[in-house]
Amino acid sequence: MKIRELLSNRVQEAMIAAGIPEDCQPMVSPSKNPQFGDFQANGSMAAAKKVGEKPRDLAQRIVDELNVEDIASKIEIAGPGFINIHLSNEWLGQLVEHAAENENLGLIRAEKGETVVIDYSSPNLAKEMHVGHLRSTIIGDALARVLESQGHTVVRQNHVGDWGTQFGMLIAHLEDQTAQNQVAEAALSDLEVFYRAAKVRFDEDEDFATRARDYVVKLQGGDERCLTLWQQFIDISVAHSEEIYELLNVTLKRSDIRAESAYNDDLPVVIEDLKAKGLVVEDQGAQVAFLEELADKEGNPLPMIVQKSGGGYLYATTDLAAVRYRNEALNSDRVLYFIDARQSLHMKQVFTLSRKAGFAKAECSLEHHPFGTMMGEDGKPFKTRAGGTVKLADLLKEAVEKAEALLESKGSDLSEAERKDAARKIGIGAVKYADLSKTRTNDYIFSWDSMLSFEGNTAPYLQYAYTRIQSIFRKADLSPENLGGNVNIVEDQEKALALKLLQLGDIIDAVSREAYPHLLCNYLYELSSLFMKFYEACPVLKDDVEPAVRESRLKLCHATARTLEKGLDLLGIEVMERM
Ligand code: ARG
Repeated sequence: MKIRELLSNRVQEAMIAAGIPEDCQPMVSPSKNPQFGDFQANGSMAAAKKVGEKPRDLAQRIVDELNVEDIASKIEIAGPGFINIHLSNEWLGQLVEHAAENENLGLIRAEKGETVVIDYSSPNLAKEMHVGHLRSTIIGDALARVLESQGHTVVRQNHVGDWGTQFGMLIAHLEDQTAQNQVAEAALSDLEVFYRAAKVRFDEDEDFATRARDYVVKLQGGDERCLTLWQQFIDISVAHSEEIYELLNVTLKRSDIRAESAYNDDLPVVIEDLKAKGLVVEDQGAQVAFLEELADKEGNPLPMIVQKSGGGYLYATTDLAAVRYRNEALNSDRVLYFIDARQSLHMKQVFTLSRKAGFAKAECSLEHHPFGTMMGEDGKPFKTRAGGTVKLADLLKEAVEKAEALLESKGSDLSEAERKDAARKIGIGAVKYADLSKTRTNDYIFSWDSMLSFEGNTAPYLQYAYTRIQSIFRKADLSPENLGGNVNIVEDQEKALALKLLQLGDIIDAVSREAYPHLLCNYLYELSSLFMKFYEACPVLKDDVEPAVRESRLKLCHATARTLEKGLDLLGIEVMERM
């Protein structure tokens, strides 16, 4: 149930009945302060201006037409003409109860299911995944989960970089290593070390460099031997990524990979098509599109190279082919790209030229959702002490170790296996949540201490709130499914909690529209805080609590636990029964 939507409709109907033009908005939003009701309709002021009436008089005429007896307990007009709506406790109780029993927690399926392609993670396979890949991977995955929960068809596209000149030196080096009786898996157990060794040889050994260049040409020409070596390398590198996805609880599967090389055959076709449409011109041997849509202040169109003078293709050419594939083969309504903000201009060029060339139909929304950089506590991009890139595998291992030490220091009485499991969920959850809870477009500072804290807007805080509710049920020796009775809202804290619980649908809508997971994080944090307040003010298991009151409160506890679990799951974060 989306209360805000329902109220908007009711107020709009009343406005129309009061003779107010249909384009006047009801402007319904949750009240900042319970004193002003649970929701406010603020549209009277703008409407009054339009029809030339006193706002308070107009508000009164709207209220006279307003039909909310079934859901509201009181309506007031305040200030210059705000309409304050106090919702009925009985109705809210029924809604919460209904939502908690519903499998999808009362989340409304989108009216029109769309096909949404999400381009995320997309590491370069020449090297191991590093911290620079974290944001795209987890933000993209959260959106995939959220959109799926709304009934959309999500097509994940892991646009991995598996092509380009660097693969010449990598396969030449792999050939030498395996010739010395090293199995490929062993040679490639550390891709970083392997890459560096290949690079040193490339820079220092002329014969090797020549062979590496020769292999690039052979690879592109479809040489069997080179392709086999290349495939061996790619398989092992993909397996590394899969380990990371598994540890990160990210839903990407091998079948979601559509690598850059998958577009190889399309690239000449793209160029021919652009030529035929007169969208590119030859400039010093290269094929270039001049985009007047992205002209500079002096009006000079922005040049975008789509084919190099030697005939080679570029990162952008592949992206043009990908836009076309996503439109034509995948039939996308929306394509979301989760890529670092530093590639914003690149995406703008790709989108602009794709539109002009008709690679994307007008109805298909192409959206780059950029994100900022992960910084160290010194305020500079996150690096190892020695100044190198941090491998994602190392970072995640450290997270789990830190969480385990934390559990130990708290004197957790979990069994060995339970503790290992909880440490993984807490450590990984902390890293993911610290990232997802920040406004995506900003840089953020990576801090172990703050992300692993049990206080504040962190994963451990939310996971702890969840375990606390589970322990209430254990203490009561009750299973939530067998609760009788009804949700009866009486106390202010109960009402505040119920209203928050019922906001989930609105929040999910906003997240899927704007691709901002932090909105869901903020919501879950507010929900947990309201739960803590409720739990302090409203005893549940104390002896003197009436059975009907206890049941009602237990149902509120259960609805909260389910909402936390669901919300965290949509972020790709797991909960546990105890800590
Ligand atoms: N492999 C690229 C990189 O590591 C990211 C690819 C993003 N996706 C895309 N369609 N360009 O920078």
